[in-house]
Amino acid sequence: MFNASALTGNKAEQYARLLEQAEGLFHGERDRIANAANLSALLYRQLPDLNWAGFYFHDGEELVVGPFQGLPACVRIPLDKGVCGAAARTRQTQRVDDVHAFPGHIACDAASRSEIVIPLVKDGALLGVLDIDSPKPARFDAEDQAGLEAIAAAWVKTTA
Ligand code: SME
Repeated sequence: MFNASALTGNKAEQYARLLEQAEGLFHGERDRIANAANLSALLYRQLPDLNWAGFYFHDGEELVVGPFQGLPACVRIPLDKGVCGAAARTRQTQRVDDVHAFPGHIACDAASRSEIVIPLVKDGALLGVLDIDSPKPARFDAEDQAGLEAIAAAWVKTTA
């Protein structure tokens, strides 16, 4: 049984603990859907002020929704659309303090105010993106970005 002990300490320490918890969930498992599902649940449970956390996978053409926590979401996102498309296309993390100011933002949940999307790339191939939304403006700072990028990298490492 997973024991979701609360994250303590400063933000860097909290993300170090969260990474350990994620690696604990991935241990001995290479199935990317299983690990994506558990990581979505972990992030949604452990990080405050989120309204969506989950995956979009690249099907070779566009992004298709994968395991997530939150409201039902748009199923397909072309690479030239939205914050997710921008992260996938540029292969750079997109950290958006105010989604209303982001041209082409796709509102899946009207409550979303800020968003971070991390591209998932393995050996040069785009696997998808990890998308995390918050109802709070500017919810994600540089420390969140560093912590979440490390956790996303741990997920990528598990993929066969
Ligand atoms: N807001 C995203 C779409 C996905 S939902 O937030 C889950 C975007 O603009 O790409």
